[in-house]
Amino acid sequence: MTPKQTYILGIESSCDDTAAAVIKNGIILSNVVATQSIHKEYGGVVPELASRAHQQNIVPVVQLALQKANIDKKQLNAIAFTRGPGLMGSLLVGTSFSKSLAMGLDIPLIDVNHMKAHILAHFIKSEGHTTPTFPFLALTISGGHTQIVKVTNHFEMEVIGQTLDDAVGEAFDKSAKILGLPYPGGPLIDKYSKKGNPKAYPFPKPKVGPLDFSFSGLKTSVLYFVERNVKEDPEFINKNLNDICASLQYTIVNYLMDKIKNAVKHTGINEVAIGGGVSANSGIRNALKAAENNFGWKVHIPELEFCTDNAAMIAMVGELKYKQQLFASNDVVAKARMEF
Ligand code: KG4
Ligand code: ZN
Repeated sequence: MTPKQTYILGIESSCDDTAAAVIKNGIILSNVVATQSIHKEYGGVVPELASRAHQQNIVPVVQLALQKANIDKKQLNAIAFTRGPGLMGSLLVGTSFSKSLAMGLDIPLIDVNHMKAHILAHFIKSEGHTTPTFPFLALTISGGHTQIVKVTNHFEMEVIGQTLDDAVGEAFDKSAKILGLPYPGGPLIDKYSKKGNPKAYPFPKPKVGPLDFSFSGLKTSVLYFVERNVKEDPEFINKNLNDICASLQYTIVNYLMDKIKNAVKHTGINEVAIGGGVSANSGIRNALKAAENNFGWKVHIPELEFCTDNAAMIAMVGELKYKQQLFASNDVVAKARMEF
């Protein structure tokens, strides 16, 4: 029988954030994230350094999450961890740690799909946030994924559109790198674009199927655009950074909105939730809010702390699976590539 009060510890280590969170009956008691700054020097995540930093961070991060939740580890009912998708060396740290802790405490272990967790983060109870009703569409936009998912219930999801090459977060980060900005460049493009003219420079929207995405051509056109202009004026980027960022963001956001509009038309579902790191972007947040008024959609936008990689979403899935007794066996292994 399920106890009345359940405390689930969530652990996330799929990329470059070591995170732990405690959830109690849908409410997040603590949500700790240690972001690895070491990768900034290299212009992207270095897998070997990421797994080493996870090793250093995981014990203090989990301890802090328990402390902030004001509970002892003996009160935990289960441990949920990210099994994949992600970087293998990073996933292994969270997986091994979670298995050992669950075994030591003699409590169930729950494996979680990172991308599904970005979607199910919407079921975290918080003030002012309404949870989606089924079925709904989820746009998962991160550094590793760009997908449109039809969500039928907590556990039944179908990918109906996705990127054929780069993820949208990569398009932001790679374009930022071309502009000389440090990793991760997405938040910086967002910041500079607020002061720029979105129509200053037209960038082409890649043409693929109505529900699919492609971003590799955009990165190439940014590269040619910058090379051409810097040849004429070496100070071109410095002088026009805000306008370049605003134009890029405008192109990407319009492209995402076109695809979501197609998905709404195709499925007849007009309830839309976003998830993943890029859902922190002010452009997409504003465009979706406008769609509520303009098209009558019901839109769900997560709080910023639940957009980028976090363990609260892992704990949330842990709680949903705990209620259904969907546990992992102790020989479960991390999976770098994981389907829905
Ligand atoms: O979900 P996430 O934290 O990690 C992955 O699973 O990939 O997403 C990270 C991505 C990075 O590409 C980062 O540049 C992007 O999310 N990102 C943003 C913003 N905040 C984070 N992109 C655009 N605008 C933002 N405000
Ligand atoms: Zn993510």
